[in-house]
Amino acid sequence: MKKFGKVLTLMMTVAMVLSGCGGTSNSNDKKVDSESGLPTKVVVGTNAEFPPFEYVDDNGQPDGFDIALIQEIGNRAGFEVEIKNMDFDALLMSMSTGGIDMVIAGMTADEERKKQVDFSDGYFQSGQVMIVKKDNNEIKTFDDLSSKKVAVQQGTTGDLSVTEGDEKCVVDGVEVKRMNKGADAVVDLINGGVEAVVIDALPAEQFVNAHPDDIKVVVDEAVVEEYAIAMPKGQETLKEAVNKALAEVKEDGTLDKLAEQYDAK
Ligand code: ARG
Repeated sequence: MKKFGKVLTLMMTVAMVLSGCGGTSNSNDKKVDSESGLPTKVVVGTNAEFPPFEYVDDNGQPDGFDIALIQEIGNRAGFEVEIKNMDFDALLMSMSTGGIDMVIAGMTADEERKKQVDFSDGYFQSGQVMIVKKDNNEIKTFDDLSSKKVAVQQGTTGDLSVTEGDEKCVVDGVEVKRMNKGADAVVDLINGGVEAVVIDALPAEQFVNAHPDDIKVVVDEAVVEEYAIAMPKGQETLKEAVNKALAEVKEDGTLDKLAEQYDAK
């Protein structure tokens, strides 16, 4: 214990010497502001396949409610944000190997993920819903998905909700088709490859709005969730700064304004 204390003091001294006064230090290529203790730049991973939270805009750039929110948080906390777009099920792995520093992706702060990462305070209440063909009057609850073919976006809580044996599973006996993108799951439904898609409520609404003659949303409130920003475990300074900025944007109405702007309501 004592020895550890000494090593820690030594490490802190080295860190202080390296960081100098009022400047920035550079350890492992990450510049840290010596006053705030925060990185000057944060690489934020997302999966821009999830409107209105994140999607690729007409210029090929990631945009959406989450992207605007993390920019706002970065501005207030004093770090630059760089967005990295990747597969949803690669996000947490990439964060664990240092490829990205943070995740904002309509990601549900669920218990399983909390074992691996820290989450900020929540910023959006959501839940899983079903999308079915417009003329389907058979599927009304998650239970009705039993023995049916259902498409999901791989690695999402929608996937887990119908995956037998998972803690989050709400219905057994589903034949799950895992797709890389939510939009692909919807196309498969329209083409008759599956009977339902399980996905978060607002993206479901947007996908249905794009094909109103073919598909509809079915709501069963069995799976309620909250989105939060994921960070590696133990980065307390960063987490506190994010939570402080988040509390501010909630309080001063900025979050509501963004929700309005991006139709995230
Ligand atoms: N809320 C769900 C989850 O956390 C789905 C998130 C999907 N997000 C995305 N950007 N594709 O698993």
